[in-house]
Amino acid sequence: MKQRVLSGMRPTGSLHLGHLVGALANWKILQDQYSCFFMVADWHALMSEYENPQKIRDWSYENVADWLAAGIDPERSVIFRQSDVIEHTELFTILSIMTPLGWVERVPTYKEQLREVKGRDLATYGFLGYPVLQAADIMLYKAHAVPVGEDQLPHLELTREILRRVHFLLKKEIFPEPKALLTEAPKLLGTDGRKMSKSYGNTLKLSESEETIRKTAQKMITDETRIRMTDPGHPESCNACQYWGMFDPERAKIVWEECRTSKRGCSQNKKELAEVLIEQTKAFREKRADLNQGNDKIEEILQEGAKKARAVAQETLREVKDALGLGPAS
Ligand code: TRP
Repeated sequence: MKQRVLSGMRPTGSLHLGHLVGALANWKILQDQYSCFFMVADWHALMSEYENPQKIRDWSYENVADWLAAGIDPERSVIFRQSDVIEHTELFTILSIMTPLGWVERVPTYKEQLREVKGRDLATYGFLGYPVLQAADIMLYKAHAVPVGEDQLPHLELTREILRRVHFLLKKEIFPEPKALLTEAPKLLGTDGRKMSKSYGNTLKLSESEETIRKTAQKMITDETRIRMTDPGHPESCNACQYWGMFDPERAKIVWEECRTSKRGCSQNKKELAEVLIEQTKAFREKRADLNQGNDKIEEILQEGAKKARAVAQETLREVKDALGLGPAS
């Protein structure tokens, strides 16, 4: 039997190019080797968006349409929405009871978010439990592997600690220890050279038109030490050249050499890069356009997925409740 993978994304906005080359390309490949569960983490979204939650539903549809266009296949993978599988909240409650307060209080992402995220009150009882809910997500499907970005490693570490504690308290081994599957793709920076993030406004949205891709590419920050075209360029510290390396590694070698020897100017470089980006995302855009027929089809896929997810989740929860002596004996 194939090992299981679970991963999720919070529906808090549109997906961008970084999601495509990072998470989604990885998910797509994993479908061949694993039995995959891909989840719209709408409970997790609610934890930060609860003051203004009305967009979570539409973002969920939009994100799933992007997943499908990127090659995530509902015939092979289970695509579902967290809130459709009630067992997530049930296991979350059980894990909350067993998780020492100190463990969640010292999760670095928690402290960081409280400090960094402005304009939202994240000092809630629920938000402290964010990584505990994530542990429940992973454990419900007895996932062996979890594809995540590096920023999520503390959550995976906490998941393993909670899992061991549950085994100790239940005197029963139920769950495999999940390992992180980090993407090999190097991190795609935003157009301004900072981390790609919608809060910085430096992303290239996946739904963008060709025209916007051209405009955005032209605004990219390049080698800041290169003032005139006759100055030699430094491709290793030029964001546009890094994009070349990722989207057309063959031609990148020539491009880099031309930059170093001042045969290629930055504006020209970005103009040609835009065409590469357009070409490389063409299949995605075409597939995405086909999916733009309202949300009924997506909702259908989510309901099918929820059925399959629930079957696994219910079985796990039955085992846990049995070991706890909770509810009727099975
Ligand atoms: N916290 C993850 C993120 O922000 C999303 C997520 C929720 C997740 N549950 C998960 C990721 C379970 C992996 C496994 O990216």
